[in-house]
Formats: sequence, structure tokens, C-alpha cells
Amino acid sequence: MPPTPRTPTPRRVAVALMIVAGSLLPAADAADAPDRTAPMALTTIMRDLGHDMQGATDGIAREDWPAVATVAARIADHPQPPLAEKLRILAFVGKDTGHFRGYDQQAHDAAQQLAQAAQRQDGTAAIAAFANLQGACLGCHQQFRKPFREHFHGGR
Ligand code: HEC
Repeated sequence: MPPTPRTPTPRRVAVALMIVAGSLLPAADAADAPDRTAPMALTTIMRDLGHDMQGATDGIAREDWPAVATVAARIADHPQPPLAEKLRILAFVGKDTGHFRGYDQQAHDAAQQLAQAAQRQDGTAAIAAFANLQGACLGCHQQFRKPFREHFHGGR
């Protein structure tokens, strides 16, 4: 599609941001900018989070505190999408970036509390931290998942 001047959409703003970011990246990265059909790193990160949450539930049920501490630390330090994808996401989230980052921070803090509770073998504190962690997942999903899927996956 030849570049023609049109009104800015979040997608075009994202492309512009990626061009700016291009100075920080090898040239190939800007040329390989993912489109709507490309799988997103965020989707894989989320699937891994879902898997680790199941591991945490299982560990709590078995009172396997070392296992809970391990998955909780992995949830707290989950990988981030590559820079170009991050810029696309933040361009899309726009004025709600504060909320989006807030949920991510809440998830990080609650996962750390879960890891610490597990290290103390404090089951009650672990369950409270786990509930708080689920609250962060749910909060972000309720606000962002549907519009996100529509924007990046064409509603699929
Ligand atoms: C800051 C926002 C945010 C937080 C916090 C968050 N998610 Fe997500 N999650 C998303 C978005 C956006 C999607 C949609 C991604 C997509 O469609 O590619 C998603 C999708 C998912 C999916 C579906 C992935 C798929 O296969 O389509 C799972 C599972 C998931 N999240 C698990 C979690 C868990 C578990 C947590 C908490 C530990 C969590 N998420 C926290 C934003 C968030």
C-alpha cells in the first residue's frame, strides 16, 4: 500500500512512533513491523501468565510453597513485548496508559507479595495476595481485552 497522507489513526501514530524508535533499533526491525495478522508477543506472555496462575493454584492446594514461590516470581518478572510492539500497544492504549500500567504494576506487586508469603509458608497471606493478583488480571482484561482484540486481531 503506497503511503498517502491521511488522517492519523492509532495505527498510523504507532507507525510514526516506530519510525522514531527506529533510531534505537536495527533497520530490519522497523521494516519487519508486525501487522494485524502477525502473532503478538503479548498474547504468548498472557498464555504463560495463565499457565503460571494455574501452577500457583495447584501449589497452594498442595501447600507446595517452593513451587508457589517459583511461579509467583516468574509472574512478577514476566517478559515484556519487544519495543516496537510495546509502542504499538501504548499508542493504542493512548490516554488510558496510566490505567494499563497501573494494572501491570498491581499484578507485579501482588505477585511479589505472593512469592514472599510462599517463602514464609504463610498460606493465608498467599491466598490474599493471589486474590489481589487475580484482581489485577481481571481489571485489565475487563477494560482492555475486547478493544485490544478488535484493534489488533480484527475481533478474533
Ligand atoms: C495490563 C493489562 C493486563 C494485565 C495486568 C493482565 N493481562 Fe492478560 N491480557 C491483556 C490483554 C490486552 C489481552 C488480550 C491479548 C490478545 O488478544 O492478544 C490479555 C489476554 C490474556 C489471556 C488470553 C490469551 C489468549 O490466548 O488469547 C490470558 C490467558 C491472560 N491474559 C492471562 C492473564 C493473567 C493470568 C494475568 C494476571 C496474572 C493477566 N493476564 C494480566 C492484558 C492484561
